[in-house]
Amino acid sequence: MCGIVGYVGPRRVVPVLLEGLRRLEYRGYDSAGLVYQHNGELVRHRAKGKLVNLEGVVDEHIGVASGTGLGHTRWATHGAPTENNAHPHTDCKGEIVVVHNGIIENYNALKNELIAKGHTFVSETDTEVLAHLIEDCLDGDLVAAVRTALSRVDGSYAIGVLWAREPELLVAARNQSPLVMGVGEDACYIASDIPALLPYTREVIFLDDQEMAVLRRGEYSILQIEDGVPLTKEVTTIDWNASMAEKAGYRHFMLKEIFEQPQAILNTVSGRIVPDTGVVDLPEIGLDPATINTIDRIALVACGTSWHAALVAKYWIEKYAGIPVEVDIASEFRYRKLLVNERVLTVAISQSGETADTLAGIRRAAELGSKVITVCNVVGSTMTREADGVIYTHAGPEIGVASTKAFTCQLAALFLLTLYLGQVRGVIDPVTQKKLGNALIDVANLIESDLPRMQKDVQELVERYYAAKDFLFVGRGLNFPIALEGALKLKEISYIHAEGYAAGELKHGPIALIDQEMPIVALVPKDTVYQKTISNVEEIKARQGRLVLIGTEGDEHLASLTEDVVYLPHVREDLMPILYTIPSQLLAYEIANRRGCDVDQPRNLAKSVTVE
Ligand code: G6P
Repeated sequence: MCGIVGYVGPRRVVPVLLEGLRRLEYRGYDSAGLVYQHNGELVRHRAKGKLVNLEGVVDEHIGVASGTGLGHTRWATHGAPTENNAHPHTDCKGEIVVVHNGIIENYNALKNELIAKGHTFVSETDTEVLAHLIEDCLDGDLVAAVRTALSRVDGSYAIGVLWAREPELLVAARNQSPLVMGVGEDACYIASDIPALLPYTREVIFLDDQEMAVLRRGEYSILQIEDGVPLTKEVTTIDWNASMAEKAGYRHFMLKEIFEQPQAILNTVSGRIVPDTGVVDLPEIGLDPATINTIDRIALVACGTSWHAALVAKYWIEKYAGIPVEVDIASEFRYRKLLVNERVLTVAISQSGETADTLAGIRRAAELGSKVITVCNVVGSTMTREADGVIYTHAGPEIGVASTKAFTCQLAALFLLTLYLGQVRGVIDPVTQKKLGNALIDVANLIESDLPRMQKDVQELVERYYAAKDFLFVGRGLNFPIALEGALKLKEISYIHAEGYAAGELKHGPIALIDQEMPIVALVPKDTVYQKTISNVEEIKARQGRLVLIGTEGDEHLASLTEDVVYLPHVREDLMPILYTIPSQLLAYEIANRRGCDVDQPRNLAKSVTVE
């Protein structure tokens, strides 16, 4: 949801801002804007729609020798996605500018108060209130004015503020929206997410809620908003590099990220499992064995694709660690009566570590005494800092809005967690543990060798299916969540209506939808429920449904049911969800491409959902 970037330093400022915005555009693309200091004035450019429109109205090579500036890419909450509502927003005189990610909940009351004092508003946004409020509080000291203004504000914000009269000053603040500071030689940066900083620095400071930063060329200070008390914060070195957040010759980030999966899974597993024994070490989990032995329930909490990973993990944890698991969508978890206490382990699963509902969910669980760990991809993100422990997925930066490698890495991390819990509680026998550990590594290698062939097989299906209006995805057991994920991928990026169902549930409703038009993708690996799933497939065929089957190499029966079969190598049943995800990702990608959709930036979506 919205990306902000800011810079104070010796570089030409416009290219730094545009490069930052390119790397944050996944957060929103309803409009983009930037502002920079020039000869005592603030020069602002804004454009509706994607960043490319802003690039069309800004001269990237403008000769501002060094600079201070802010940029913004918007995912609209208050006010239509017009140029007039695009950030940065200004005060009445155009001397104060603000970029903002979040929602000012009491903006209406503040706006009425400011209008009564004579301020003139020109946009429909909540953000504009901040610019006028700071103007109202300003008495020669921008830092003090921002502090006073923020004391009046309810809601979430990551903001950057400039004042025309102080050309080398940038003030930033955070409450419940992500904000990271970059520290470079003679320069300081702010951004909503790390990739925007990577071309310039890997030294970062994560701001916490209710903190603000005062940035000047090559120097900074961090204070508490409430009382202005200075804070000393740790500088973290990020081990991602700039090229990891680039397309590297692929047409889309999504395709690159699909192909990065084998290595990403290996990176997630590496160093945490002993190949010869399957023994798992998760030192960062933050739970001692005594605590693990007292857990009598696990609550898995997540949104979107991460929720699908949680659904798979329930099968694994209950089977191999013997602990009952509840899985919740975070936006439901946070508002229902929670029967959670110190004997419940809450596990948040989140690629970004910033999803507002998941974050609120773990805060509630922690208040009730639950230990909280997070399975997360972004180092230093809010969830990782608030949880008692972290299992990082080492997927590297994921830029495509539709999650792919982060999902399979979440599965790998959750499988490691399963083995670890089973091992600590002594409920998994060493022979099984060794087999499972090896199978996890094998599945990554199999994906590596089979991905090009899978892509080719899927490409052959596309002409026959890309024009469909609806799709069903079905699977049983561990592959039921994968059917849900397949349907989600397709609807997210191709805009085809798709639903995932447990295959056994078809006859309780969705079978009524089946006709000669609607494709049904069925996941039918040779697993323990194979015969049951095949019976469901036969029921579809008997009603002349259009079948695409994804199953195990050598299963000739599948080819007798339909000509559209994608075969996958045999893997141990427990690991099938990781492998069986890949063809659905490719199918969604190829169909979206064929339909001319914007694969990496699908309409209405944003990668990091920091509003509820
Ligand atoms: C958004 C993204 C999804 C993601 C979900 C949860 O909807 O578009 O790809 O699965 O948020 O995000 P998280 O960062 O918490 O995994």
